[in-house]
Amino acid sequence: MTTKTELIKGLNDDLAGEWGTIMRYTYQSGKAFGLRGAELREIFEGEIQDEMGHAAYLTDVIVDLGGEPTTTPQTFDKPDNLKSMLELDLEMELQDVNNYAIRAKQAENLGEIELKVKLEEMAADEAGHARELRRLLRGA
Ligand SMILES: [Fe+2]
Ligand SMILES: [Fe+2]
Repeated sequence: MTTKTELIKGLNDDLAGEWGTIMRYTYQSGKAFGLRGAELREIFEGEIQDEMGHAAYLTDVIVDLGGEPTTTPQTFDKPDNLKSMLELDLEMELQDVNNYAIRAKQAENLGEIELKVKLEEMAADEAGHARELRRLLRGA
């Protein structure tokens, strides 16, 4: 059985992850050189918008549940080539899918239906990001 405190703690871990992802994609955009880098920058731009939406939603929900939303990003590795960057991103996106699936179950346990549905949608967004990254990696 999940407690509300556990749910808030989990959502804050997710939020730290989102801040970290926004920073990672922004950092990687700056380090994406050449023609392939230019394409990558466009893709990152779109994904940063999605992750910003996730971070804003999580912040609102944590406040609504009576918690204090984190503003500290999760730290991330900084590989020095595009392929390793994309591999890292894919791994992180898949981790996010898994985390949101777990969080959705916890929300359901607590009867937080709107939250459960939104978290599942966020898991789906991250799965979409992962698919995009797999496509990019096929040509890397
Ligand atoms: Fe996200
Ligand atoms: Fe994502």
